[in-house]
Amino acid sequence: MTRAVPNIVPRHVAITMDGNGRWAAARGLARSAGHKAGLDPVRMCIQECTRREVTALTLFAFSSENWRRPVEEVASLMGLFVEALDREIAELHANRVRVRFIGDRRTLSVRLQARIAAAEERTGGNDGLRLQIAMSYGGRWDILQAAQKLAKECASGALRPEAIDEQRFAASLQLAGLPDAELLIRTGGEQRISNFLLWNAAYAELYFSDRLWPDFDVAELEAAFAFFGSRQRRFGRTSEQVEPGASGGRTP
Ligand code: IPE
Ligand code: IPE
Ligand code: MG
Repeated sequence: MTRAVPNIVPRHVAITMDGNGRWAAARGLARSAGHKAGLDPVRMCIQECTRREVTALTLFAFSSENWRRPVEEVASLMGLFVEALDREIAELHANRVRVRFIGDRRTLSVRLQARIAAAEERTGGNDGLRLQIAMSYGGRWDILQAAQKLAKECASGALRPEAIDEQRFAASLQLAGLPDAELLIRTGGEQRISNFLLWNAAYAELYFSDRLWPDFDVAELEAAFAFFGSRQRRFGRTSEQVEPGASGGRTP
């Protein structure tokens, strides 16, 4: 069911940036050229989310399953992440963006881990957009690492198993302290989750775009925001229970 409340901005936008390889193939280019071209829409989304005062933006850059790709593609992606961080971090910091990486960083190169730590450290005190880059991230891995943390606390006697509720569990996940993802965008035409935010997107509105990621532009992002604004978010209630505007489109 839809309703016309176009100005509601999601607090947390998550994006699966898919379609770089096909974008490059359509131009007779190497897949790595598609990944490079994908940096422009990343900048655009950060700018637009900042301008609209979105609290958090989480970008899926490399999944735990993407390690299965040919070694050359993985190497070129990892190189691109290092280059992009080196080039963008000063401007992100100047725009008060607070950067955090989510994922199994132990699987990343020492070089990349050092850049990540430096970026988090440098921007950690910023009060602007909360930007999460998901790298070597999988939703199942995230839930498992949370379960392991909590199990260790229980084993040491610091935590009672009965004390583990949704809040406590969420506090052990990679996105601890952030609101749930409210709008999940996936470009590239596929309509699947591909092991992204399994816990945090439990009630996200899903927007699937046929655009390949390098072609994702402001108009398409606006279309996704308009789509979000038009949804009646019921969280299990009936639509009669949800007065227009009562929930403010917010995750309770
Ligand atoms: C998304 O684009 C980027 C990553 C997964 C790293 P793809 O590389 O998956 O592009 P397609 O889906 O093959 O076109
Ligand atoms: C999802 O895209 C992961 C990222 C965009 C980083 P994939 O291209 O890896 O997803 P599948 O394999 O088509 O599901
Ligand atoms: Mg893909």
